[in-house]
Amino acid sequence: MQLHVANHPLIDHKMTILRDERTESPVFRSLVAELVNLLTYEASRDLRVQDVPVTTPVTGMVGKHVASPLPIAVPIIRAGLGMLDGFLQLMPYCEVGFVGIRRNEDTLQPETYAKRLPDDVSDRQCFVLDPMLATGGSLAATVQFLLDGGATGITAICLVAAPEGVALMQERFPDDNVRVVVAALDEGLNEHGYIVPGLGDAGDRLYGSA
Ligand code: PRP
Ligand code: URA
Repeated sequence: MQLHVANHPLIDHKMTILRDERTESPVFRSLVAELVNLLTYEASRDLRVQDVPVTTPVTGMVGKHVASPLPIAVPIIRAGLGMLDGFLQLMPYCEVGFVGIRRNEDTLQPETYAKRLPDDVSDRQCFVLDPMLATGGSLAATVQFLLDGGATGITAICLVAAPEGVALMQERFPDDNVRVVVAALDEGLNEHGYIVPGLGDAGDRLYGSA
């Protein structure tokens, strides 16, 4: 697994407002979209493209279009859904698949309650969306679903990661075909499995407690 931590003043500024406990859901949601816009630029660096002829007002040339088969975006429900609009603004041609996973609050193990992926994910580039990489269980389970389906090249976009989750991803996916792009790498997890300093429960902050 390759880790890329965004190191950019604009991202740091927006992340600080996002982390602030006083930031309410409407602002939180639009900041998430803006941050995903910025992270998608970095996450799509290895996007597969193909040559296409184009005629400018001056002359013909060979340009680039996103290659087929088209990439797939996979938000992890619930909190990952809050990242989908921001991602699709930059990558509107993606197909979208969904994975529903919730952490068991006692064991912190991921429990999958929904999975609706495109029929054929083989040889597809996939972009997994989840704001929080805590123990890493939810992201690792999703990446494994995609690899089992034959996906090649999986990039996860996260906002906050804990070293424990990064270590789990590196242990489960030692190859370079899995990348994680994060806005911030935090200190660690507390006794409840929350990222410290983190931003709290991302799903609750996006949608209210459930
Ligand atoms: C959060 C978050 C991740 C997961 C991260 O989801 O959105 O999916 O926790 O934790 P992990 O790395 O330890 O697996 P949560 O289980 O709270 O569900 P929700 O998105 O429905 O609120
Ligand atoms: N899930 C969250 O929403 N926040 C955390 O800090 C850890 C897991």
